[in-house]
Amino acid sequence: MFKRLSSISIGLRYENAPGAFGLIPQGTRKSAAPVQTAANGAHEQGNEMNHIDRETASPAARAVDLTKTYGKGDAVVRALDGVSVEFARGRFTAVMGPSGSGKSTLMHCMAGLDVPTSGRAFVGDQEIERLDDAGLTDLRRDRIGFVFQSFNLVPTLTAGENITLPIDLAGAEIDQAWFDYLVEALGIADRLSHRPSEMSGGQQQGVACARALIRRPELIFADEPTGNLDSSSSAEVLAFLRRSVTEHDQSIVMVTHDPRGAAYADRVVFLADGKVVGELLSPTADSVLEQLMKLGS
Ligand SMILES: Nc1ncnc2c1ncn2[C@@H]1O[C@H](COP(=O)(O)OP(=O)(O)O)[C@@H](O)[C@H]1O
Ligand SMILES: [Mg+2]
Repeated sequence: MFKRLSSISIGLRYENAPGAFGLIPQGTRKSAAPVQTAANGAHEQGNEMNHIDRETASPAARAVDLTKTYGKGDAVVRALDGVSVEFARGRFTAVMGPSGSGKSTLMHCMAGLDVPTSGRAFVGDQEIERLDDAGLTDLRRDRIGFVFQSFNLVPTLTAGENITLPIDLAGAEIDQAWFDYLVEALGIADRLSHRPSEMSGGQQQGVACARALIRRPELIFADEPTGNLDSSSSAEVLAFLRRSVTEHDQSIVMVTHDPRGAAYADRVVFLADGKVVGELLSPTADSVLEQLMKLGS
């Protein structure tokens, strides 16, 4: 896993995301359908207990009539135009839509990385708007993981140090067994002393995934996590995310352009012009493609 050098993205892009140096400090229907485990259409029934818990639990996150506008007057852009959506706990939800449809803005507003113009965003039962600065920092550091397209690793830290950064910042103890599991599952166990510039794109995104999961957050937001990866590294990342949901009951919301990527999810939410325009349960690459064509994107 992740051993192959990425031909596309041996990148040095450390684009600063909202938050802090790229680290994440820096009703919907709950699908009763079998959990789809891979793009090839294989299905696997989820653990029955988890299934019951999921049905009764509050959503991992929800937005109520969220709007976000940029600019003023004639130049105003409505990035979000009244989005109400729920993301179920213990499920993998994909968000798709044309470029500029508001996908990143939605992720940022729901993760507390950006402030909506109006409307409400909740993580669990916690309304983000009601948090003070310290509460917001705790939310981003402890309860949410974020994976960015451009990895956003700290270039001066090793892979291992990048992964444990959220723990170090929180002054918490490392769960060594969980750390070992993550780096093994992501195929980066032998790269822990390397700096990001010495790693392939796939390996860097592996580090970013491990960093996002190390605190076992309630919810992971991933904004085009495979956008800079070749197909083999993409498949590794997607399979890992799928496994985190199926085996570890992680809740994941992932923006993707790729119907094959969306097919790893349990549900796809489609955005256009800042609005939710459709959804699909138990998606396959074909059904996603069909829906995208219907929506004219
Ligand atoms: N900081 C910003 N200032 C002005 N306009 C912005 C800003 N961020 C996003 N937008 C605009 O908001 C719309 C939605 O952007 P975005 O959420 O990034 O879309 P997506 O992720 O779906 O490509 C686009 O029209 C974009 O140009
Ligand atoms: Mg985007």
